[in-house]
Amino acid sequence: MTGKFIIQGGTPLRGDVTVYGAKNAASKMMIASLLTDEPCVLENVPLSQEIDITREFCERIGSEVAIGMDHRCEIRTPEIKNTSVVEFSRKNRIPILAFGPLLHRKGEAEVPFLGGDAIGHRPIDLHLEALNKMGVTIERRERSYYATADAIIGADIEFPFPSVGATENVLLTAVRARGTTTIRNAAVEPEILDLIRMLQGMGANIACDSAARVITIRGVPRLTGAVHRVLPDRNEAVSFAVAALATRGQVRIVGASADDLGAFVEKVKAMGAGVSQEADALVFSGADAYRATDVATAPHPGFMTDWQQPLAILMIAARGVSTIHETVYEDRFGYVKDLRRMGANIEVSDECIAPPCRYAGRTFNHSARITGASLLKGTDIVMTDIRAGMAHVIAALVAQGKSVISGTDHIDRGYERMDERLRALGADIKRV
Ligand code: UD1
Repeated sequence: MTGKFIIQGGTPLRGDVTVYGAKNAASKMMIASLLTDEPCVLENVPLSQEIDITREFCERIGSEVAIGMDHRCEIRTPEIKNTSVVEFSRKNRIPILAFGPLLHRKGEAEVPFLGGDAIGHRPIDLHLEALNKMGVTIERRERSYYATADAIIGADIEFPFPSVGATENVLLTAVRARGTTTIRNAAVEPEILDLIRMLQGMGANIACDSAARVITIRGVPRLTGAVHRVLPDRNEAVSFAVAALATRGQVRIVGASADDLGAFVEKVKAMGAGVSQEADALVFSGADAYRATDVATAPHPGFMTDWQQPLAILMIAARGVSTIHETVYEDRFGYVKDLRRMGANIEVSDECIAPPCRYAGRTFNHSARITGASLLKGTDIVMTDIRAGMAHVIAALVAQGKSVISGTDHIDRGYERMDERLRALGADIKRV
């Protein structure tokens, strides 16, 4: 059963915290390991529920998986025992990435409809169209997608939008396809570049021009095992950073690098935060007062959509009017109603904040105007997704008084022992 966090706000966070490997890379790398019958070793894997779900999913397919407390995951799939994994319906967004590995090894795959956070419609048309182009036939069934392919062939694919999941899906299918696949307008998030490094370590032939958003994959008949260290989780780093800044503390985030957090670092510096890069850590130092700012979310190297919810907490503490223009998902401001109950002054609207985005003229509430500085008061909140949930936890750490935040499953899905690590930084947070 899911638990609650009881948080007494107002303590500045101080100290060192280490970020673990990115869940959004590690889970995809576990799927990549299905492309070979040889063992793969992933280091720095986060011990989060998302990894547990992915592990069960791989085991159901036939993988032998061992994950130690040392964050080392050994995964080997000598034989594919099941090509149908429909029972993993709506748990997360990973099953759809298994098409390529299952088709290459068994010629068929049946995956369930996807889950993940409720942040909009989240279609998978780009995945399906790209796989079709590569010779995969996909039939929509009552609860699943059933795919078959006589031969998977390289194709020229241009995405209308640089989708992270669709880029990964094509990568995981193209690495063992016959011929060359080119992905244009590809997503080039650091997690994708890290997945490419792992696939290259397995023997894949991939060239990536990030600036041009072009990825070229020359299919190879077989891949081998590999040892790969998962890159640090950027979302974890941002959550700790905002928690440090909004509580006006100082936290050294070990493992974080300004290279992968450029858009975030630039924004919080403009707001008045202190940020310095050390050899092994990024240090965030709070200021007495913050300046308002404007942010538009975008695919990497832009400001990531998963960072707008924590940044909103810093905007509440900033003097003046800040704005957030969410251009990646149409419905990502569900969390603001609880922040309003805590005392924040936030209005959401279906209008774009110039320049217009692909949601212009539609009725999606995809922009927010935050007027600060407001002091937050503790309250009771039910979390509904990972990033929004983390924003609520940070708001409670800043607020005066006590907050009771239920739905800890959402945090545990994406973050390893978040409450313990916040406590080590001085936060008054208990799990019940
Ligand atoms: C991944 C991340 C998520 C992050 C997002 C954007 C994981 C598990 N999740 O999600 O945390 O917020 O990237 O950085 O890695 N779209 C379509 N058709 C498609 C696919 C996507 O219209 O076939 C749209 C989506 O509805 C959304 C946008 O494209 O509006 C971005 O989605 P995408 O980049 O695919 O995100 P995910 O891979 O689902």
